[in-house]
Amino acid sequence: MSDAHNAILEPLINETDLHAGISQLVDRIADDFDGDELYVIGLLRGSFMFTADLVRLLYRRDVRLVIDFMTVASYGSGTESSGEVNMMRDVHLDLTDKPVLLVDDILDTGRTLSFASQHLSEFKLASLKTCVFLDKPSRRVVPFEADYVGFTVPDLFVVGYGLDFDGRYRELPHLSVIQTPRSTGSDHPDHTPP
Ligand code: IMP
Ligand code: MG
Repeated sequence: MSDAHNAILEPLINETDLHAGISQLVDRIADDFDGDELYVIGLLRGSFMFTADLVRLLYRRDVRLVIDFMTVASYGSGTESSGEVNMMRDVHLDLTDKPVLLVDDILDTGRTLSFASQHLSEFKLASLKTCVFLDKPSRRVVPFEADYVGFTVPDLFVVGYGLDFDGRYRELPHLSVIQTPRSTGSDHPDHTPP
């Protein structure tokens, strides 16, 4: 399929499979946090859709939540990242002694989640678990494993369900692989799409 932005998109995970996978993930989280008030911190912008679906399903499983968002950014030029991650918008809640679930769209090099986890652990939390919609283990630079993973994907540049290329395609309700001649993505300067 070729779309208005002239990129070729190949569906990878359809909407039905995507929601089935997230539902299973929520069952595990709900079992683990039974009875606790869980502090969910979504990483913007990529996790907005995943977080929105996750919290609604957790509500149906009677998990009570406090929700906030954090924005971090990694900087680099061209296709090379400096590897440095910076805080753009911090959490506005006191997380001391709270159980926290940190949510991101994709675990790629591991830099973002490793930075964000390190930052949150300075709050002296009761516990910290991480949850990602996608894991791309073959791309890891910083050792990091998420506690809850929706889907493991190969080393392909994927868009949709919150994930973008130059700010585009976040709105897709499913996940697609993008093939484009361009070489930089807005959130992700160190990854060259095929
Ligand atoms: P990490 O710090 O390398 O783990 O990268 C995490 C961030 O890179 C994610 O939050 C995404 O914004 C972005 N990213 C990594 N892989 C992809 C991809 O395949 N498509 C879109 N964004 C990606
Ligand atoms: Mg992101």
